[in-house]
Amino acid sequence: MKRIFSGVQPTGNLHLGNYLGAIRNWVRLQQEFECIYCVVDLHAITVPQDPAELTASTREVAASLMASGIDPDQSILFNQSCVPQHAELAWVFNCVARLGWLNRMTQFKEKAGKNRENATVGLYSYPTLMASDILVYKATHVPVGEDQKQHLELTRDIAQAFNAMVGEDFFPLPEPQILGQATRVMSLRDGSAKMSKSDASDFSRITLTDDADAIMSKIKKAKTDPEPLPSEVEGLEDRPEARNLVSIFAALADRDEAGVLADFGGQGFGVFKPALAELAIEKLSPITGEMNRLMADPGYLDQILATGANKAYALARPIMAEVRQRVGFLGSSAG
Ligand code: AMP
Ligand code: TRP
Repeated sequence: MKRIFSGVQPTGNLHLGNYLGAIRNWVRLQQEFECIYCVVDLHAITVPQDPAELTASTREVAASLMASGIDPDQSILFNQSCVPQHAELAWVFNCVARLGWLNRMTQFKEKAGKNRENATVGLYSYPTLMASDILVYKATHVPVGEDQKQHLELTRDIAQAFNAMVGEDFFPLPEPQILGQATRVMSLRDGSAKMSKSDASDFSRITLTDDADAIMSKIKKAKTDPEPLPSEVEGLEDRPEARNLVSIFAALADRDEAGVLADFGGQGFGVFKPALAELAIEKLSPITGEMNRLMADPGYLDQILATGANKAYALARPIMAEVRQRVGFLGSSAG
């Protein structure tokens, strides 16, 4: 049986990278499989957060997911901190994972930056919590963008080490699902940097709250080179900014890059950028509209998340109880 789990951090607005790399795939998977989607607030506090902003962002991300097509009746949608088994299993995994494994994690190195001594212990052990998010449901498939591949490999290592420790195939080895034409959307200002929530420049990303004018002006100002678009995909090599815009077009239009270049090869960005902006506006503005509608009713969003947390808890609790028993903990978690 396939069970899908994925998560997104409630830190700022969701952007086109989140949407094309992850969320759109989440929406598609829910037609076929049992899906659990989580707003990972425990992960968010691995770096300093303003409490009121964290609360608001949690609602906002939930609204974006629903506006993008996540159906809370069909899938489970909740915020991580409401299901204590995530943190409970993460502790067990902290006692399974080795320093050497975590020392290899590139996301920690990027996020901690030069001042590593000042990073929180939580940021360092972020990947063990992520492994527990997935495995506390014995999820088998994890749709994510390419940047999460290494964390998924670590999740498999942890599952394997735990299984070896207890002498049985207790956890499945979950598989990453890196799907679509835009698994790594780059910054609009720099084709060598990932589009991210934390980039200082608002012009580096298109967010799900941007209106049509903002989308048009961000795409028109996007960094490019002076050459026209090539007619073949090979011609995009060494042209990271051009490649990024073409792959965004392909993903939004549900086509491949070759098809897009068959239409636009030989054209300059003066033609391509407005066409891309129109397409982005057509695909994103219904989501933005629905998101604003949902955000106007925070009570409703809170109720959706609370219902989702109860469903998630019902799945996580018995699995955690089995873990406790395997490890040798006496009794059961209170509550
Ligand atoms: P985060 O915002 O870091 O919580 O990421 C949520 C999801 O979006 C994860 O599955 C990421 O892999 C995906 N993601 C984030 N940034 C990008 C990007 N620039 N391109 C593609 N996927 C992304
Ligand atoms: N680390 C992921 C990110 O930043 C978010 C995340 C947390 C996640 N737990 C997860 C993704 C479990 C997939 C599965 O993008």
